[in-house]
Amino acid sequence: MSDAVPDLDTVVREIAEEMADRPDRGEVATYIPELARVDPKAFGIVVIDADGHVAAAGDSDTSFSIQSISKVFTLTLALGMAGDRLWRRVGREPSGSPFNSIVQLERERGIPRNPFINAGAIAVTDTILSGHQPREALGEILRFMQFLAQDPTITIDEAVAASELRTGFRNIALANYMKSFGNIDNPVDFTLGVYFHHCAIGMSCRQLATASRFLAHSGRNPLTGHSVVSPERAKRINAVMLTCGHYDGSGEFAYRVGLPGKSGVGGGIIAVAPEKASIAVWSPGLDASGNSHLGRIALEMLTRRLGWSIFGA
Ligand code: DON
Repeated sequence: MSDAVPDLDTVVREIAEEMADRPDRGEVATYIPELARVDPKAFGIVVIDADGHVAAAGDSDTSFSIQSISKVFTLTLALGMAGDRLWRRVGREPSGSPFNSIVQLERERGIPRNPFINAGAIAVTDTILSGHQPREALGEILRFMQFLAQDPTITIDEAVAASELRTGFRNIALANYMKSFGNIDNPVDFTLGVYFHHCAIGMSCRQLATASRFLAHSGRNPLTGHSVVSPERAKRINAVMLTCGHYDGSGEFAYRVGLPGKSGVGGGIIAVAPEKASIAVWSPGLDASGNSHLGRIALEMLTRRLGWSIFGA
């Protein structure tokens, strides 16, 4: 490492120290009541570099609700099952709209703009479900997360899933609306059941950074040598994360952080520095677009100090 580049452990530790004291922490999500119980002062960060060195600070081993971060992994699974046919039922353009918006669906005849807004992720889940029972499809998703994170203890938080099932009226509307256009193949409650449950998977920053390594290293986990997807597919998933991973905050995230990333309303964000590192941060308070407020700021500090933005500097 050149003298000019600061040491990764030092950078990660200093970011966590600064984040611990910041008063501006955003607002914890309450529309899924169970998520409102989380401590707004929590902050965790893990960076795993190409050599497998793990830099961790703060609440890096605390499990939290991964929510929409799961959509990256369901997209990976669905592409593995359906290949490019998936893009007939979901687009890959930024929506410029909130994650749970319904407006574009009518104009675009039930084809969601991208796989990361809720409508798109529900269509992706429906692809995984086809030909399976909901329990099997969910098992497939959970085992994929355990395999990627190299950790069989990862589980679904049933209280979070039940909480969203009780209050997920917007998602129920989105799924029914898509069904009316023929873009949901399975019974709506089956598809939503799988969707709510994969959003309710609990993982820590360490587990998420490990699970994301294949995206940072051309589809392969450099530690295990396992090829998860082709280099071409990893590149394309990263492209969709860059343009759509933060909903109507995707432009701001690219501008400030400069990495492909995906957020969840549990306050987590994964980010990928191609060929350099996989990163996970967690701070439960959200900004107006539903993305972790301090998580984004921490990632901006990290890429600035290490010169990791894909756009240079
Ligand atoms: O469907 C929902 O509303 C949640 N299960 C996931 C939303 C989410 O994480 C949006 N991301 N920032």
